[in-house]
Amino acid sequence: MKSMPLERRGISNSRLVYGCMGLGGDWAGSPLTKEDYITAEKAVEAALEIGITMFDHADIYKKGKAETVFGEVLKNRPDLRDQIILQSKCGIRFPDETGVHRFDFSKDHILASVDGILSRLGIEHLDVLLLHRPDALMEPEDIAAAFNTLRSAGKVRHFGVSNMTSAQMRFIQNSLPEPLVVNQLELSLARLDWIEQGILVNQKAGLNTNFADGILEYCQMADVQIQAWGPLAKGLFSGAAKVDSPETVKNTAALVAQLAAQYEAEPEAVVLGWLMKHPARIQPVIGTTDSKRVLACRDAVRVADAMTRETWYALLESSRGVRVP
Ligand SMILES: NC(=O)c1ccc[n+]([C@@H]2O[C@H](COP(=O)([O-])OP(=O)(O)OC[C@H]3O[C@@H](n4cnc5c(N)ncnc54)[C@H](OP(=O)(O)O)[C@@H]3O)[C@@H](O)[C@H]2O)c1
Repeated sequence: MKSMPLERRGISNSRLVYGCMGLGGDWAGSPLTKEDYITAEKAVEAALEIGITMFDHADIYKKGKAETVFGEVLKNRPDLRDQIILQSKCGIRFPDETGVHRFDFSKDHILASVDGILSRLGIEHLDVLLLHRPDALMEPEDIAAAFNTLRSAGKVRHFGVSNMTSAQMRFIQNSLPEPLVVNQLELSLARLDWIEQGILVNQKAGLNTNFADGILEYCQMADVQIQAWGPLAKGLFSGAAKVDSPETVKNTAALVAQLAAQYEAEPEAVVLGWLMKHPARIQPVIGTTDSKRVLACRDAVRVADAMTRETWYALLESSRGVRVP
């Protein structure tokens, strides 16, 4: 199998990324507790145990507390910083004194956001910075100026995007001297638009798909690492389905359980393995805060390598509820 785009760029990484959105307690702004710290420490230890060396943050996660609690974990493990790749995101602004929820790719906001990220994590530099969601008012020259300042100051090594189309990526890339290295998108066995867009060309059923046409192909051609957020589908196929869940979910969870037994792996590894079999070399960003569930992802690469084309399509058919055209 071909190598990962990040690897080809000489950026050390792992096949799975640990997503830190769930760390840091609540979203309401309550102070961090001892329990929040213990959860973070256990989750990070479990991630390291299964070979994860890349960690994903955003300035907004738990209003900064996810980065703060991770920073505390780093403080108690000073050896760790040099062994891992830290990624964070900026560009989403929650309502503040202005009362307006907005996106902001202005130079001033990007620079201020990165200073906040570095301070909360207690680190000197970020390995990768992503622009979180497209800003309708984005100006590539402004973004390029911000990136240039951050790179020259040694604050950020690489840049990427999240939730963007290939046109938006090319628009930004056009003003940058260095390549965008990541696009993080919602991709899973439950949210199938990324597959439907491609296989329903010329089909009426394809009119309802909502995924940027050509983004998977563009990222593969431009050597951009595609990362999948929401890859465990909130556990829908690995234990979270309820009696009143749709038949497609229950059937798919049953198939995932059967395959897990066959591969001698946990259901989480099957759900991730399905994503990872895709030739785009997708890097799932797992968001569980439960260390046992983190460990359950251990065999995802082995499952991806063992999964046949027929099994891959059987899972797709089960989740979409109808055969491919
Ligand atoms: N770029 C973006 O716009 C964007 C958006 C969202 C997220 N992200 C990133 O992607 C990461 C992952 O996203 P995600 O957390 O939405 O996706 P996920 O990994 O698919 O799901 C994790 C969530 O599902 C729950 N879960 C998993 N298995 C379960 C089970 N068997 N039973 C009950 N609950 C279960 C977890 O709860 P427990 O914690 O209790 O296990 C957790 O809340 C985030 O941490 C963040 O880094 C990026």
